[in-house]
Amino acid sequence: MAEALRVAIAGLGTVGASVVKVLRDHRATLLRQCGRPIEVVAVAARDRSRDRGIDLSGLDWFDDAAEMAARADADVIVELIGGAEGKARQTVEAALSAGRHVVTANKALLAAHGVAIARRAETAGLLVNFEAAVAGGIPVIKVLRESLAGNTPSRVYGILNGTCNYILTRMEQEGLSFADCLSDAQRLGYAEADPTFDIEGHDTAHKLSILTSLAFGTEVAADRIYMEGISNISQADIRAANELGYRIKLLGVAQRTDSGIEQRVHPTMVPLSSVIAQVHGVSNAVAIETDLLGELLLSGPGAGGRATASAVVGDIADIAKARPGFQHGPVFGHAAAALQPYRQAEMRSHAGGYFIRLTVHDRVGVFAAIARRMAENGISLESIVQRAHAATEAQKNVILVTHETTEASVRLAVDAITQDGILTEKVQVIRIERAN
Ligand SMILES: NC(=O)c1ccc[n+]([C@@H]2O[C@H](COP(=O)([O-])OP(=O)(O)OC[C@H]3O[C@@H](n4cnc5c(N)ncnc54)[C@H](OP(=O)(O)O)[C@@H]3O)[C@@H](O)[C@H]2O)c1
Repeated sequence: MAEALRVAIAGLGTVGASVVKVLRDHRATLLRQCGRPIEVVAVAARDRSRDRGIDLSGLDWFDDAAEMAARADADVIVELIGGAEGKARQTVEAALSAGRHVVTANKALLAAHGVAIARRAETAGLLVNFEAAVAGGIPVIKVLRESLAGNTPSRVYGILNGTCNYILTRMEQEGLSFADCLSDAQRLGYAEADPTFDIEGHDTAHKLSILTSLAFGTEVAADRIYMEGISNISQADIRAANELGYRIKLLGVAQRTDSGIEQRVHPTMVPLSSVIAQVHGVSNAVAIETDLLGELLLSGPGAGGRATASAVVGDIADIAKARPGFQHGPVFGHAAAALQPYRQAEMRSHAGGYFIRLTVHDRVGVFAAIARRMAENGISLESIVQRAHAATEAQKNVILVTHETTEASVRLAVDAITQDGILTEKVQVIRIERAN
C-alpha cells in the first residue's frame, strides 16, 4: 500500500475533534479516493485531561502546538485553534519553516497575515489549504481558486455569518425583536457571549477579504472594508421590506467598479424572489458573478463541527492526492508575489438603489419637504409611501425607495432632511442589492 499521509492536528475543539472523528470513521472511503491512507499521528490542545469524545491513545500529545508543528513526525499540520495571532500564527509559521503543508480553518489569521503566509508557502513549495475559513462546509474556496480559472469575476457576495442570518430570519418569521433573537442565539450556542464580532460585521469582513483576494487577485485587506452591523434593524424595517418585496440580509459584497474595488458589509435589501433571499437560519450562501458563467450561487451549512470538518478533510485529502514533484498552485489562486495592492472604491461612490425610512412629525408639508430634498440631490424616487407603523399617532413612517443613485447623494439628502427638523427618530438607510 502507498505510504500514509501523516497528519498532526492543533486544536481539538468543535472542529478539531470532529476532524479526528471523520478521518477515522471515513478511513476506508478516503483510502479509496486518495489511493493512500491518512493517519492522525499527533495532536495538541491546552487541556490534556478534557474528554473530547474521541480516543487519543496511540497519538503523540503536545501541550505546545507550535512545538508539534516543528517536531511531530507529520507531513501536514492542521491548525484549528483560531485567532489572528498567538499560538495559531506560531503554529502555522513553525509548520512552514519545518517544510510541512498547512490546512487551516482560521479566517482571522488569513485576513491579517494571508499574503505573508502565502509568500512563505509558495517560496517553500508548500500548500496552505483553507476551505473551512469561509462559509464553513461550502466549497467556495476551491471553486474560486480552481474551478473558475479563466473567468473574470465582477462581483462576489454572500451571507457569510450564520448568527446574523439566524437573528434576521427569526425576526422576520416570528416578529421578535433583535435583542430577543440575539439572546436565543446565545442560549443555543450560535452566538458568542460577546457577540459584537458577529453582529457588527467583523466576521463577515474577514471572510469577504479572503473572497476578494481569490476573486480579484488582490492583497487581503480586511481592515479597509466598509462595515455596518445588524443591531439597528427593527421590526419596522423588516415589515416595510416585506411589503415592498424585499428581505433584509447581512451581506458581504465585493464588486469591481470603475472607481476601484468596492468592499462592503451591511444589512441589504434583496428581492424576495431571489435565490439568496431563500437562505434562512444559520445557513450561508456565496454568489459569484463572472463573465463566462453568469451567476453561480452556493449555499449550505456555514458552521458546525461536522460540516466544517467536511471542508478540512477535503483539504487534507487534496494534499494526500497531490503528486510528488508537481508544482502546487498558488494559495490565493494568483501567485502571492503578484497579488495587487488595489484601488479601493470609496463608499461615497457606491451606486445603487436605497431604502430610506423616515419617522416624521405628522404635519402638513412634510412629504413635500422630503421630496424637495431628494430632488435637490438628484435622487429620483421609485416609490414614496406613508406607513402607519410609527410608535405614536403624532408620527408617521415615510418610506422611500430610490432609483439608482450614489451613496454621496443619499448622505447629503439625509443630512438636509435631518437639519429640516421634521424627524422624530434617526433616519434608517438600507442599501438595495441586485440579486437573481
Ligand atoms: N466552530 C465552527 O463551526 C467553525 C466554522 C468554520 C471555521 N471555524 C474555525 O475553526 C477554528 C477552530 O474553531 P472551533 O470552533 O473548533 O474552536 P474551539 O471549539 O474553541 O476549539 C479551539 C481548540 O484550540 C485549542 N487551543 C486554544 N488555545 C490553544 C493554545 N494556545 N495551544 C494549543 N491549543 C489551543 C483548545 O484547547 P482546549 O480544548 O484544551 O481548550 C481547543 O481544543 C477557528 O479558527 C474558527 O474560526 C470554526
